[in-house]
Amino acid sequence: MTAEPTTEPLRTDRPDTTPVLRARGLTKVHGRGDASVTALAGVDLDIAPGSFTAVMGPSGSGKSTLLHLLAGLDSVTSGTVHLGDDELTAIGDKELTLLRRDRMGFVFQSFNLLPMYTARQNIVLPLDLAGREVDPEWFAQLVDILGIADRLTHRPAELSGGQQQRVAIARALITRPDVVLADEPTGNLDLRSGAEVLSLLRTSVRELGRTVVMVTHDPAAASHAERVVLIADGLVRGTIDRPTPTSVIAGLEALRPDDEVA
Ligand SMILES: Nc1ncnc2c1ncn2[C@@H]1O[C@H](COP(=O)(O)OP(=O)(O)OP(=O)(O)O)[C@@H](O)[C@H]1O
Ligand SMILES: [Mg+2]
Repeated sequence: MTAEPTTEPLRTDRPDTTPVLRARGLTKVHGRGDASVTALAGVDLDIAPGSFTAVMGPSGSGKSTLLHLLAGLDSVTSGTVHLGDDELTAIGDKELTLLRRDRMGFVFQSFNLLPMYTARQNIVLPLDLAGREVDPEWFAQLVDILGIADRLTHRPAELSGGQQQRVAIARALITRPDVVLADEPTGNLDLRSGAEVLSLLRTSVRELGRTVVMVTHDPAAASHAERVVLIADGLVRGTIDRPTPTSVIAGLEALRPDDEVA
Protein backbone atom coordinates (compact mmCIF):
# COMPACT_ATOMS: atom_id res chain seq x y z
CA MET A 1 0.00 0.00 0.00
CA THR A 2 1.44 3.30 -1.03
CA ALA A 3 -0.90 5.93 0.33
CA GLU A 4 -1.80 6.53 3.96
CA PRO A 5 -5.48 6.55 4.86
CA THR A 6 -6.94 9.99 4.37
CA THR A 7 -7.87 11.77 7.57
CA GLU A 8 -8.43 15.23 6.09
CA PRO A 9 -11.77 15.91 4.40
CA LEU A 10 -11.27 15.52 0.68
CA ARG A 11 -10.56 18.58 -1.36
CA THR A 12 -13.32 19.25 -3.86
CA ASP A 13 -13.03 20.78 -7.28
CA ARG A 14 -15.01 23.73 -6.01
CA PRO A 15 -13.58 24.51 -2.60
CA ASP A 16 -15.76 27.62 -2.10
CA THR A 17 -19.02 25.77 -2.33
CA THR A 18 -20.74 23.96 0.49
CA PRO A 19 -20.82 20.24 -0.24
CA VAL A 20 -24.22 18.89 -1.22
CA LEU A 21 -23.29 15.58 0.35
CA ARG A 22 -20.88 15.24 3.26
CA ALA A 23 -19.68 12.17 5.11
CA ARG A 24 -17.58 12.23 8.27
CA GLY A 25 -15.98 9.30 10.04
CA LEU A 26 -18.27 6.86 8.28
CA THR A 27 -17.91 3.31 9.52
CA LYS A 28 -19.98 0.21 8.86
CA VAL A 29 -19.52 -3.14 10.49
CA HIS A 30 -21.70 -5.94 9.10
CA GLY A 31 -22.57 -8.78 11.45
CA ARG A 32 -21.29 -9.42 14.98
CA GLY A 33 -18.42 -11.03 16.81
CA ASP A 34 -16.19 -13.41 14.88
CA ALA A 35 -18.41 -13.16 11.82
CA SER A 36 -18.27 -9.35 11.68
CA VAL A 37 -16.90 -7.59 8.62
CA THR A 38 -15.71 -3.99 8.67
CA ALA A 39 -16.93 -2.72 5.32
CA LEU A 40 -16.09 0.94 5.98
CA ALA A 41 -13.41 2.00 8.42
CA GLY A 42 -13.80 5.79 8.69
CA VAL A 43 -14.57 7.62 5.47
CA ASP A 44 -14.61 11.40 5.08
CA LEU A 45 -16.02 12.62 1.79
CA ASP A 46 -17.26 15.92 0.39
CA ILE A 47 -19.33 15.94 -2.79
CA ALA A 48 -19.56 19.38 -4.39
CA PRO A 49 -22.84 20.46 -5.96
CA GLY A 50 -22.81 20.00 -9.71
CA SER A 51 -19.92 17.55 -9.64
CA PHE A 52 -19.52 14.10 -11.17
CA THR A 53 -17.59 11.72 -8.92
CA ALA A 54 -16.64 8.11 -9.62
CA VAL A 55 -15.89 5.72 -6.75
CA MET A 56 -13.48 2.92 -7.59
CA GLY A 57 -11.65 0.18 -5.78
CA PRO A 58 -11.28 -3.59 -5.57
CA SER A 59 -14.25 -5.91 -5.13
CA GLY A 60 -15.27 -5.95 -1.47
CA SER A 61 -13.54 -2.64 -0.71
CA GLY A 62 -16.76 -1.02 0.54
CA LYS A 63 -18.00 0.95 -2.48
CA SER A 64 -21.59 -0.27 -2.41
CA THR A 65 -21.68 0.04 1.37
CA LEU A 66 -20.53 3.66 1.05
CA LEU A 67 -23.20 4.41 -1.55
CA HIS A 68 -25.91 2.80 0.60
CA LEU A 69 -24.87 4.88 3.61
CA LEU A 70 -24.72 8.08 1.55
CA ALA A 71 -28.25 7.25 0.37
CA GLY A 72 -29.52 6.60 3.88
CA LEU A 73 -30.51 3.10 2.74
CA ASP A 74 -28.56 1.38 5.47
CA SER A 75 -27.73 2.38 9.04
CA VAL A 76 -24.23 3.58 9.90
CA THR A 77 -22.21 1.96 12.67
CA SER A 78 -20.73 5.39 13.40
CA GLY A 79 -20.21 8.68 11.63
CA THR A 80 -22.50 11.18 9.94
CA VAL A 81 -23.94 11.87 6.51
CA HIS A 82 -25.39 15.26 5.58
CA LEU A 83 -27.43 16.10 2.50
CA GLY A 84 -27.16 19.86 2.48
CA ASP A 85 -28.18 20.94 5.98
CA ASP A 86 -30.01 17.73 6.77
CA GLU A 87 -28.25 15.01 8.69
CA LEU A 88 -29.47 11.72 7.22
CA THR A 89 -27.92 9.83 10.11
CA ALA A 90 -30.03 11.76 12.64
CA ILE A 91 -33.52 11.92 11.16
CA GLY A 92 -36.34 9.40 11.50
CA ASP A 93 -37.36 6.85 8.91
CA LYS A 94 -40.38 8.77 7.68
CA GLU A 95 -38.46 11.99 7.11
CA LEU A 96 -35.63 10.04 5.50
CA THR A 97 -38.05 8.37 3.08
CA LEU A 98 -39.42 11.74 1.99
CA LEU A 99 -36.01 13.30 1.67
CA ARG A 100 -34.76 10.38 -0.42
CA ARG A 101 -37.84 10.47 -2.62
CA ASP A 102 -37.70 14.21 -3.27
CA ARG A 103 -33.99 14.94 -3.38
CA MET A 104 -32.10 11.80 -4.33
CA GLY A 105 -32.07 9.48 -7.30
CA PHE A 106 -30.75 5.92 -7.27
CA VAL A 107 -29.48 3.50 -9.84
CA PHE A 108 -28.35 0.28 -8.25
CA GLN A 109 -26.96 -3.02 -9.48
CA SER A 110 -30.41 -4.57 -9.20
CA PHE A 111 -32.81 -2.37 -11.11
CA ASN A 112 -35.57 -2.46 -8.47
CA LEU A 113 -38.30 -1.89 -11.02
CA LEU A 114 -41.87 -2.77 -10.08
CA PRO A 115 -42.79 -5.84 -12.18
CA MET A 116 -46.49 -5.00 -12.58
CA TYR A 117 -45.82 -1.47 -13.78
CA THR A 118 -44.97 -0.45 -17.31
CA ALA A 119 -41.70 1.32 -18.06
CA ARG A 120 -43.52 4.64 -18.13
CA GLN A 121 -45.21 4.00 -14.78
CA ASN A 122 -41.90 2.95 -13.26
CA ILE A 123 -40.18 6.11 -14.50
CA VAL A 124 -42.78 8.52 -13.15
CA LEU A 125 -43.34 6.61 -9.91
CA PRO A 126 -41.24 8.96 -7.73
CA LEU A 127 -43.29 11.91 -9.02
CA ASP A 128 -46.57 10.06 -8.47
CA LEU A 129 -45.57 9.24 -4.91
CA ALA A 130 -44.70 12.87 -4.30
CA GLY A 131 -47.88 14.13 -5.97
CA ARG A 132 -45.80 16.07 -8.46
CA GLU A 133 -46.54 16.69 -12.13
CA VAL A 134 -44.51 15.09 -14.90
CA ASP A 135 -42.58 17.64 -16.97
CA PRO A 136 -43.39 16.23 -20.44
CA GLU A 137 -40.35 17.81 -22.06
CA TRP A 138 -37.93 16.40 -19.50
CA PHE A 139 -39.64 13.01 -19.71
CA ALA A 140 -39.39 13.01 -23.51
CA GLN A 141 -35.77 14.10 -23.41
CA LEU A 142 -34.83 11.37 -20.92
CA VAL A 143 -36.53 8.49 -22.71
CA ASP A 144 -35.19 9.71 -26.04
CA ILE A 145 -31.58 9.94 -24.85
CA LEU A 146 -31.91 6.61 -23.07
CA GLY A 147 -33.40 4.96 -26.17
CA ILE A 148 -36.52 3.62 -24.46
CA ALA A 149 -39.15 5.84 -26.05
CA ASP A 150 -40.64 2.84 -27.88
CA ARG A 151 -40.61 0.61 -24.80
CA LEU A 152 -42.74 2.69 -22.46
CA THR A 153 -45.74 0.37 -22.40
CA HIS A 154 -43.63 -2.73 -21.71
CA ARG A 155 -43.29 -4.29 -18.28
CA PRO A 156 -39.79 -4.98 -16.91
CA ALA A 157 -40.01 -8.72 -17.76
CA GLU A 158 -40.53 -7.71 -21.39
CA LEU A 159 -37.38 -5.60 -21.43
CA SER A 160 -33.73 -6.60 -21.76
CA GLY A 161 -31.41 -6.05 -18.81
CA GLY A 162 -29.93 -3.00 -20.49
CA GLN A 163 -33.36 -1.54 -21.19
CA GLN A 164 -34.39 -2.14 -17.58
CA GLN A 165 -31.26 -0.32 -16.46
CA ARG A 166 -32.14 2.64 -18.67
CA VAL A 167 -35.64 2.74 -17.21
CA ALA A 168 -34.03 2.78 -13.76
CA ILE A 169 -31.80 5.67 -14.82
CA ALA A 170 -34.74 7.63 -16.22
CA ARG A 171 -36.57 7.04 -12.93
CA ALA A 172 -33.55 8.31 -10.99
CA LEU A 173 -33.39 11.52 -13.03
CA ILE A 174 -37.09 12.28 -13.52
CA THR A 175 -37.40 14.21 -10.23
CA ARG A 176 -34.30 16.32 -11.04
CA PRO A 177 -32.79 15.25 -7.72
CA ASP A 178 -30.03 17.07 -5.83
CA VAL A 179 -27.88 13.95 -5.98
CA VAL A 180 -27.91 10.83 -8.13
CA LEU A 181 -26.20 7.81 -6.59
CA ALA A 182 -25.40 5.08 -9.07
CA ASP A 183 -23.84 1.66 -8.43
CA GLU A 184 -22.38 0.33 -11.69
CA PRO A 185 -25.02 1.99 -13.86
CA THR A 186 -23.36 0.74 -17.03
CA GLY A 187 -22.48 -2.72 -15.75
CA ASN A 188 -25.24 -4.40 -17.75
CA LEU A 189 -25.02 -2.32 -20.90
CA ASP A 190 -23.14 -2.88 -24.11
CA LEU A 191 -20.36 -0.43 -24.93
CA ARG A 192 -22.51 1.91 -26.98
CA SER A 193 -25.45 2.09 -24.55
CA GLY A 194 -22.99 2.41 -21.67
CA ALA A 195 -21.32 5.38 -23.35
CA GLU A 196 -24.72 6.97 -23.99
CA VAL A 197 -25.72 6.55 -20.36
CA LEU A 198 -22.45 8.08 -19.18
CA SER A 199 -22.87 10.97 -21.52
CA LEU A 200 -26.41 11.45 -20.22
CA LEU A 201 -25.10 11.48 -16.66
CA ARG A 202 -22.44 13.96 -17.66
CA THR A 203 -24.99 16.11 -19.44
CA SER A 204 -27.20 16.04 -16.37
CA VAL A 205 -24.21 17.35 -14.38
CA ARG A 206 -22.90 19.93 -16.84
CA GLU A 207 -26.12 21.28 -18.30
CA LEU A 208 -28.73 20.51 -15.69
CA GLY A 209 -26.73 21.11 -12.55
CA ARG A 210 -27.24 17.64 -11.11
CA THR A 211 -24.69 15.97 -8.85
CA VAL A 212 -23.69 12.38 -9.59
CA VAL A 213 -21.77 9.85 -7.51
CA MET A 214 -21.15 6.66 -9.45
CA VAL A 215 -19.48 3.41 -8.44
CA THR A 216 -17.78 1.70 -11.35
CA HIS A 217 -15.15 -0.93 -12.10
CA ASP A 218 -14.57 0.45 -15.56
CA PRO A 219 -11.68 2.94 -15.99
CA ALA A 220 -13.23 4.22 -19.23
CA ALA A 221 -16.52 4.88 -17.43
CA ALA A 222 -14.70 6.56 -14.55
CA SER A 223 -12.90 8.87 -16.95
CA HIS A 224 -16.27 10.50 -17.70
CA ALA A 225 -16.26 11.80 -14.12
CA GLU A 226 -14.46 14.93 -12.91
CA ARG A 227 -12.91 13.13 -9.98
CA VAL A 228 -12.24 9.57 -8.96
CA VAL A 229 -12.28 8.57 -5.29
CA LEU A 230 -10.19 5.45 -4.68
CA ILE A 231 -11.34 3.09 -1.95
CA ALA A 232 -9.55 0.08 -0.50
CA ASP A 233 -10.26 -1.85 2.69
CA GLY A 234 -13.05 0.52 3.64
CA LEU A 235 -10.91 3.65 3.49
CA VAL A 236 -10.43 6.46 1.00
CA ARG A 237 -6.90 5.97 -0.30
CA GLY A 238 -6.71 8.87 -2.70
CA THR A 239 -8.39 10.87 -5.40
CA ILE A 240 -7.70 11.54 -9.05
CA ASP A 241 -8.85 14.84 -10.55
CA ARG A 242 -9.75 14.97 -14.24
CA PRO A 243 -9.21 11.23 -14.60
CA THR A 244 -8.20 9.51 -17.82
CA PRO A 245 -8.37 5.74 -18.35
CA THR A 246 -4.58 5.65 -17.98
CA SER A 247 -4.44 7.62 -14.74
CA VAL A 248 -7.31 5.58 -13.31
CA ILE A 249 -5.60 2.27 -14.11
CA ALA A 250 -2.39 3.58 -12.51
CA GLY A 251 -4.35 4.69 -9.43
CA LEU A 252 -5.99 1.28 -9.09
CA GLU A 253 -2.64 -0.48 -9.53
CA ALA A 254 -1.20 1.59 -6.70
CA LEU A 255 -3.96 0.29 -4.42
CA ARG A 256 -2.88 -3.31 -4.80
CA PRO A 257 -0.94 -4.69 -1.84
CA ASP A 258 2.53 -5.86 -2.90
CA ASP A 259 1.80 -9.39 -1.72
CA GLU A 260 -1.55 -9.68 -3.44
CA VAL A 261 -2.08 -12.95 -5.27
CA ALA A 262 -4.00 -12.18 -8.41
N1 LIG B 1 -25.08 -7.35 4.38
C1 LIG B 1 -23.81 -7.72 4.58
N2 LIG B 1 -23.49 -8.60 5.55
C2 LIG B 1 -22.22 -8.99 5.78
N3 LIG B 1 -21.17 -8.50 5.09
C3 LIG B 1 -21.42 -7.64 4.10
C4 LIG B 1 -22.75 -7.19 3.78
N4 LIG B 1 -22.68 -6.31 2.75
C5 LIG B 1 -21.38 -6.22 2.44
N5 LIG B 1 -20.62 -7.00 3.25
C6 LIG B 1 -19.15 -7.12 3.23
O1 LIG B 1 -18.62 -5.81 3.33
C7 LIG B 1 -17.50 -5.67 2.47
C8 LIG B 1 -17.75 -4.52 1.50
O2 LIG B 1 -18.80 -4.89 0.63
P1 LIG B 1 -19.31 -3.94 -0.55
O3 LIG B 1 -20.51 -4.58 -1.13
O4 LIG B 1 -19.46 -2.57 -0.02
O5 LIG B 1 -18.07 -4.00 -1.55
P2 LIG B 1 -17.92 -3.40 -3.02
O6 LIG B 1 -16.70 -2.55 -3.00
O7 LIG B 1 -19.18 -2.78 -3.46
O8 LIG B 1 -17.62 -4.72 -3.88
P3 LIG B 1 -18.02 -5.05 -5.41
O9 LIG B 1 -17.07 -4.27 -6.26
O10 LIG B 1 -17.76 -6.53 -5.51
O11 LIG B 1 -19.45 -4.69 -5.64
C9 LIG B 1 -17.30 -7.01 1.81
O12 LIG B 1 -16.33 -7.72 2.53
C10 LIG B 1 -18.65 -7.67 1.91
O13 LIG B 1 -18.53 -9.05 1.94
MG1 LIG C 1 -20.59 -3.25 -4.98
